Amino acid sequence: MKKWFFCLSCILVLLITGCKEDEPAIVPVPQQPTYKLTDFTPSQQCSTCHPQYYEEWSGSMHRYSTSDPIWRLANNSLQAHTNGGLGKACFQCHSPIGWLTDTYKPTFEFSDLDPLVREGINCDICHILRPPFKTTNQQIEYTLQPGNIKYGILTDPVVNPAHENGFEPAYDRSEACRQCHDLILNGVPFEITFTEWQNSPWGAMSVECQTCHMKKYTGQAAVGGPVRNDLHRHTFAGADVAITDFPYRFEQKAEIDSFMKNSASLKLDVPAQANLLDTVTVHVTICNDKTGHNLPTSVFFNRQMWIEVTVWKGSDTAYRSGHLDANGDLMDKNSALRPNEDKDLALFNGTLYKDGHETGILVELDSVYNKSIPPFGSHKATYKFKTASAGYWNVKSRLLFRPFGPHLFRSLNADEYVTELPIFAMEVDEKIIQIQ
Ligand code: HEC
Ligand code: HEC
Ligand code: HEC
Ligand code: HEC
Ligand code: HEC
Repeated sequence: MKKWFFCLSCILVLLITGCKEDEPAIVPVPQQPTYKLTDFTPSQQCSTCHPQYYEEWSGSMHRYSTSDPIWRLANNSLQAHTNGGLGKACFQCHSPIGWLTDTYKPTFEFSDLDPLVREGINCDICHILRPPFKTTNQQIEYTLQPGNIKYGILTDPVVNPAHENGFEPAYDRSEACRQCHDLILNGVPFEITFTEWQNSPWGAMSVECQTCHMKKYTGQAAVGGPVRNDLHRHTFAGADVAITDFPYRFEQKAEIDSFMKNSASLKLDVPAQANLLDTVTVHVTICNDKTGHNLPTSVFFNRQMWIEVTVWKGSDTAYRSGHLDANGDLMDKNSALRPNEDKDLALFNGTLYKDGHETGILVELDSVYNKSIPPFGSHKATYKFKTASAGYWNVKSRLLFRPFGPHLFRSLNADEYVTELPIFAMEVDEKIIQIQ
């Protein structure tokens, strides 16, 4: 059985509630050449000639990666829990500039960080990144070429006074995303979106990350440049949304909503008729037939994708699964109000383990249990119920997704953001059953 996965929520809960560890966890990070802040160009300087890219990037999770309060709170909790042993590990991908220039703080407020560090994954980092795009055990070795050459996929770029152009065909392929989107931790394949993709039919068919996450459009790559029909969007919509004031956050949410509606399929099987005395069985089958990797992927242990089922007639409800308690939590073990009441809940997340016990300390995991659905994999959930009366009963099922559960935010003392958490309806199916 596949055993890899971790429940960041639980991890964080443990962190907050203070599960004590004897040995501080140390996350080794590789030696890198030392860079200065001045080796990197702020994105604002690209905006004059590349306004479209700048606006799209400004509202992206790459821009948000160092402004996300949950990331900061998670870093600070883990740091407290490991007596600072975490070092700058969390900056590696979320703020490569902070990491490379040693301008990070182990435990920080946003105001402690240089504005360039707070740009997160900016234009320059991506466009001076050179092959090979390697990942090794919990270490990222960036090969960077800071300076005047910006690498891209244009074979005939027009000359400009700001920088030289370098042609790099790898930018058109998934490997350009690999370093940050394929995390192995303590030898355990952990947040491995790239590997999931590579081992899937999508990888075999060369349907790259960019095909789905950097859609093509026609426009100008630079002000005054030629009109091209193969430019790439830079909004990088995925699953997660900005939860604080942030440019284009409502546009981001709308884009994710339509993306989510094209991620999976759901089939609801309900018998047309049943007898009042019988137990009725319905099936819901979810298939990950449109997403290029597991569903959910990466921080799957934090994500909540689940099946909701409701059976009702008028104001009578015969059956419910996947509904929320008054705190907005699913009624599984993390519900403070109605723990484990939803016995049939189909939630596709995961759990982290250390020495066979569930752990809240991400950096100490030695195995994970992952319930996410691999590409072209499916899951069939079964629900049984009886109705109180004869008649035509409605059966409705939805596949729902939200980036985090409220209990996670509460465990991080981030209750204020709970109202910012959207729930995306990915799929829905509805049937009627005649009970006689
Ligand atoms: C330098 C590291 C880095 C590189 C290179 C990188 N990413 Fe990311 N990416 C991140 C981080 C970190 C986040 C999470 C930001 C956050 O949510 O706080 C992210 C977020 C995303 C998201 C949004 C995820 C969500 O939950 O909504 C998508 C989609 C994405 N990246 C796709 C890509 C693709 C496609 C590429 C390659 C063209 C790529 N990334 C290259 C680090 C990187
Ligand atoms: C190998 C690169 C990498 C490292 C190292 C890394 N992350 Fe991430 N992180 C990502 C990517 C990529 C995403 C987006 C994945 C997704 O949306 O599914 C992400 C998403 C997240 C999220 C959810 C989005 C958000 O910001 O709210 C949190 C929280 C987070 N990371 C915390 C951490 C913490 C804490 C550490 C240090 C222990 C860390 N990360 C180290 C790559 C990394
Ligand atoms: C003075 C204007 C100007 C500024 C400032 C500028 N660029 Fe460009 N850039 C251009 C032009 C013009 C092109 C070519 C467009 C074309 O041929 O369609 C270009 C092309 C590119 C390409 C494509 C290269 C290739 O070979 O595929 C990248 C990547 C790029 N710029 C990144 C950046 C980044 C990152 C910054 C900020 C650090 C930046 N640019 C600042 C004008 C500028
Ligand atoms: C066939 C289209 C397709 C391909 C190829 C693809 N993705 Fe995705 N990706 C999606 C869809 C649809 C979603 C939204 C559903 C979800 O959350 O997984 C998504 C979501 C994501 C997320 C956020 C997931 C989460 O649950 O937090 C990240 C990060 C991401 N993709 C990165 C990548 C990277 C990196 C690659 C290449 C290795 C890639 N994607 C390839 C379609 C694709
Ligand atoms: C997460 C990494 C990432 C970030 C951040 C990023 N880019 Fe890109 N960019 C890419 C990749 C990858 C491609 C090539 C996509 C392909 O060919 O499929 C690209 C393509 C381009 C191109 C070539 C024309 C095109 O549309 O393909 C230009 C110009 C460009 N980017 C400018 C910028 C500017 C300006 C910024 C900041 C405002 C920026 N990029 C931020 C990864 C990134």
